[in-house]
Amino acid sequence: MGEGLLDLTKLAGFPVFMDDKGRLSFGEGAVQVEPDVRKLKDASSVLLYPDEDGPEILYWMYRGAGLAKDQRAIADSSLRFDLTVLSPGTIGSEYVKTVGHYHPRVPGQPWSYPEVYQVLHGKAHFLLQRGGEVTGQVEDFAVAEFEAGDILLIPPFYGHVTVNPADGYLVMANWICRDFSSSYEPIRLRKGVAYYDVEYKGQSIFMPNESYESHPKPRLIKPTDYPKLGLFRGQSMYTAWQNGADLGFLVKPSLQEDLWREMGLTPGGY
Ligand SMILES: [Fe+2]
Repeated sequence: MGEGLLDLTKLAGFPVFMDDKGRLSFGEGAVQVEPDVRKLKDASSVLLYPDEDGPEILYWMYRGAGLAKDQRAIADSSLRFDLTVLSPGTIGSEYVKTVGHYHPRVPGQPWSYPEVYQVLHGKAHFLLQRGGEVTGQVEDFAVAEFEAGDILLIPPFYGHVTVNPADGYLVMANWICRDFSSSYEPIRLRKGVAYYDVEYKGQSIFMPNESYESHPKPRLIKPTDYPKLGLFRGQSMYTAWQNGADLGFLVKPSLQEDLWREMGLTPGGY
């Protein structure tokens, strides 16, 4: 490990380091993943100020990370572990963010695919919305303002965007089913989700996106443990999987139907 590298190993669950340009490197035993890059010019359709300057690269996606020895078991479970690094900065006054997407329905199930995220370094604003992909009527809008170690469950039916509101790089991890492709079109067509996360006098504020017909007041999600899923704040989600956390609900969401109903969701989603 060289000088100036930030050691992310503890929360990642395997040896990962970040340099001062936000690039990850992987240590002994880890898969040497090459990132997919999302550039500013690729994201212009979802930005509040598409003509303003910003970081050339908004984020790097390292899909299929983890220890080489675990890859067979991860694939056999239809899962994938990803790391994403978001640049700090703004485009105009809007914070750097992911372009956002919804997940499709699971074949033969009345739910769409859920996902779990964990912040490994920095600060994240996760923006979630239910509805809005067809009619522009958003039924629920939620914001999670999370720090390193915090875990967020993205329930079925929620489109999601991650924002980096801090001065430094944001690193996050996710577990997800590996057998589907996300749907980017609904959020692209409406120029983002229902609110833009904007810096105003040094603070984050939420500005309504006029492409939507409804703007429910953003609801705050507090960081929590997910004992039913075997996931706990401050503990690596990768290590949790190694220790037997059952993430099968990411592939078959009906396995956690009670949890979705507790969250006010009904099968079918609409
Ligand atoms: Fe997702």
